[in-house]
Amino acid sequence: MKRAERLQTLPPYPFARWAARVNAARNQGLDVVSMDIGSPDLPPEEDVVEALYQSARRPDSHGYPGYRGIPELRRAVADYYGRRFGVELDADTQVVPLIGSKEGIVNLALACLDPGDLVLVPDPGYAPYTMGTLLAGGEVAAFPLLAENDFLPDLDAIPAEAADRAVLMWLNYPNNPTGAVAGLDFFARTVSFAREHSILLCHDAPYCDVTYGGYVAPSLLQVPGAEDVAVEFNSLSKTANMAGWRIGMAVGNAEALAALARVKSNVDSGIFRPLQEAAIRALAADPEWLAVRNATYAERIDVILETLVEVGMETVRPHATLYVWARVPTGWASEEFARELLEQTGVAVAPGPFFGPAGEGYVRLSVTAPTERVREAMARLREFVGSTG
Ligand SMILES: Cc1ncc(COP(=O)(O)O)c(C=O)c1O
Repeated sequence: MKRAERLQTLPPYPFARWAARVNAARNQGLDVVSMDIGSPDLPPEEDVVEALYQSARRPDSHGYPGYRGIPELRRAVADYYGRRFGVELDADTQVVPLIGSKEGIVNLALACLDPGDLVLVPDPGYAPYTMGTLLAGGEVAAFPLLAENDFLPDLDAIPAEAADRAVLMWLNYPNNPTGAVAGLDFFARTVSFAREHSILLCHDAPYCDVTYGGYVAPSLLQVPGAEDVAVEFNSLSKTANMAGWRIGMAVGNAEALAALARVKSNVDSGIFRPLQEAAIRALAADPEWLAVRNATYAERIDVILETLVEVGMETVRPHATLYVWARVPTGWASEEFARELLEQTGVAVAPGPFFGPAGEGYVRLSVTAPTERVREAMARLREFVGSTG
């Protein structure tokens, strides 16, 4: 079978390779605690499921749903941005519903990049920023996110030549995998940077409502004039515990969104109408429901941090996201540590280099296992580090 050249540049998705290893451990009889991927273990709000059910029962819900989402969903996204961030969006030109934000991230690359175009990508970072670029024939210039800079990029350290050549730049706060957060002052600097270098700034914000200790994450679109140079991706996967439903959105710069919508109309045929109606309900989530859900994650984070401190794995408390980013004990490489931990104890964590070379020396622990399972996993981690240290 012939395979396209572009496949040569596209490595297998790191988590697909890792999933095979986790399955092998399971098949060998290990009781695996999955703290490697960020798939929420808790269900969505009951009313959201009910909205899906009611809509699915209607005979007129099952045809092709249209390309740019039903107007009511676009309106609900605009209302959410207005309520939550004070950002005004035109529901018709500044909102594109997505089949999960991952496809939007990759399709935006197809919409904006020609072969050889340069894209600025965070390292460590969510893999599709790089994979989308490579699929589109673009080139990646990675900028490091370092602990000493609170995992924010040093914009002054990005070579002027790369900044001038770049077509897109990816940012993601609250950040996967580091758990770092960014303030509006930082966003304002990146908007200026994008304007100065004629870059389309792409901010990915799926964790903006997964926050702790009173932290409130801003939208990059709160920066005055950001919509001239930026799009923001968002998702109900983490906010509303709907990762399997595949519902996300891109908002902001109308021209970039029109390009994205053109690619999508040629690739997919929209989102099942009952999912869109359920998403409308999810976008109006009860703040109390969110608070209770986030408190559950916060309790798990406490359990994880207590253990990491005890075994001497350096980390910082995240104010948001589903992740704790921790240094592996001295003498270990990340993947070796994660592999041994998995094979000896059944605890699955994500090796830092899955997110880029700057992730070496770290592992990412996800808080999406039930609290009792997190306790169990941390007991096993304590024993593992104790016996190998
Ligand atoms: C930073 C980031 N962006 C996007 C996504 C994808 O979200 P979705 O489920 O909406 O495709 C994830 C999922 O883990 C993520 O961590």
